[in-house]
Amino acid sequence: VRALKVEACLSGLALRGSALRRVAGVFTREMTRGLRQQPSSLQMENTYVPELPDGTEEGVFLALDLGGTNFRVLLVELRAGRLVREDVKQYHISDELRLGPGEDLFSFLADCVQDFVRCEGMEDQEMSLGFTFSFPMKQHSISSGELITWTKSFKCGGMAGVDVAALLQRCLRARRLRVTVRVLLNDTTGTLVAGAQLDRRVGIGVILGTGSNGCYMERASAVSRWEAAPARRGRSPDVCVDVEWGAFGDNGCLDFIRTDLDREVDARSLLVGSFTFEKYIGGKYLGDLLRAALARLAGAGLLPRAPPPGSLTSAHLSLFEEENENGETTRTLDALRAACGGRWGEQDALVAQHAARLASNRAAQLVSVCVSVLIERMARPHVAVAVDGSVFKRHPRIGRLMDTYIALLQPLPFSLMGAEDGSGKGSALTAAIAARIAAQDN
Ligand code: BG6
Ligand code: GLC
Repeated sequence: VRALKVEACLSGLALRGSALRRVAGVFTREMTRGLRQQPSSLQMENTYVPELPDGTEEGVFLALDLGGTNFRVLLVELRAGRLVREDVKQYHISDELRLGPGEDLFSFLADCVQDFVRCEGMEDQEMSLGFTFSFPMKQHSISSGELITWTKSFKCGGMAGVDVAALLQRCLRARRLRVTVRVLLNDTTGTLVAGAQLDRRVGIGVILGTGSNGCYMERASAVSRWEAAPARRGRSPDVCVDVEWGAFGDNGCLDFIRTDLDREVDARSLLVGSFTFEKYIGGKYLGDLLRAALARLAGAGLLPRAPPPGSLTSAHLSLFEEENENGETTRTLDALRAACGGRWGEQDALVAQHAARLASNRAAQLVSVCVSVLIERMARPHVAVAVDGSVFKRHPRIGRLMDTYIALLQPLPFSLMGAEDGSGKGSALTAAIAARIAAQDN
C-alpha cells in the first residue's frame, strides 16, 4: 500500500513515451522559430563560430572559463592542433561578487588574469584570450556580445546592454595587461570545439552540469540573424548555434510536463520564473527537486520527516542512485539522518532512492529529447556528441540512460563522449580558429 501511495505522490515525474514525443515536437517547433527570429523560448544564438579545429591551430593562448562550478584561468599552447601545454589556476568567486555590481565581478576577473600571467612570468607578452562566458548572450560577432540574463548562481547588477567582452577588455587594459579578448563563447561551444580533438565526427556540444544547454553545427543559411562577419557569411557553409535550452518552456509551451514539485523548486530559486527546463535537469536544481519530492512524501505521512530547504544537493541524488544500483542503503540513511534528523529506517531509504531514480530518469529523458532532435536535424552518417559538466561526470547512471533514450528516440548512429574541462581548451582553440580565419581574410 505504501508503494502505491508513493507512486501516486510522485507520478508526475514519470514521463511516458508519448509525452517525450510531444516535448520533441515542441522543441523542434521552438527551434525553427528561434532560428527565424520569431517568438520562441529557444534563443538559437548565432555564435559566429564557423568551423571546428582542422589540426593546424598554433600558438599560446589564454582562456577564462566563467559560469560553471569553478572559475578558471588557463594558458594553452597548441602545436599543429595538438595541446602541448595546459596550465590552469582556479579562483574562488565569493557570493558577494556573484550577486554584487557587474563591474566588481569583471574587475576581479581581470585581477585573476593579472595574477595568473605574473605567476607564469608572462606579464610583458602580448597574448590573445578566449573568454568562455557560460550565460545566455546576444552575440554581435565572434568576439562581442551582451548578457541576456543571469542564470544559475549569478545575479550581478548593472549589466543590461553591456558588451561583456568589451568590459573585460577595459578591465584588462586598466591593469596594463597586453591581453586581447579575441573570442567570446559559451561553454557548450567550447565543449563542441574541444570535442573535435577527440572525434572528428563531433557535431553537438552538451553541458550537463550546474546548468544545462547544448549547441550544434547548423547550416549558415538557416540562421536569420547575422550582425557581423558579413565577409564570411555565405563562405562557410555552417555556423555553431547555441540553443540555450535552459530557457525552453519559459513561454509556457512545456507546461504539460510541469509538476507542483517543479513549481516549488522554481519558487525557491534565485531567478524565479526563468530557465524552466534547466530546473528539470541542472545540477543546481536536482537536489532541490529531490528535497521537494521527499517533503511531499513526508507531508503524506510516507516518510518520517521533510528535509529542510537547501539540505539536499545533486551529490545526494548521485549517492542515492549509486547505492540503489548496488542494493545498499547505509550511506543513504546516514545522509538522510544528517540532512533531516529523526528516525529513518531501511524502507524510508528505499523510498528516497526511488524518488532520486524518478528525478534522474526524467532529467536524462529530457536532455535526450533535445540531443535526439539535434541529431536528426543534422542527418549525418554519425554524430559524435561532446558532453561535459558535473552531473554527467558524477551521476552514476546518466550517461547510460542518455545512450538508451537517445537510441529509442531517434534512429541515426551517434556516440556520446566525455569532453572533460572542454570549454577552457575549446576557448583557446576557438581563439586559434579566429586567428586563422582573420589571416585568411586579410
Ligand atoms: C566545465 C567547463 O568543464 O564544465 C565549464 O569548463 C562549464 O565552463 C562546466 O561551465 C559545466 O559544468 P559545471 O558542473 O561546473 O557547471
Ligand atoms: C545556462 C546558461 C548557458 C550555459 C549552461 C551550462 O543554461 O544559460 O549559457 O551553457 O548554463 O553552463
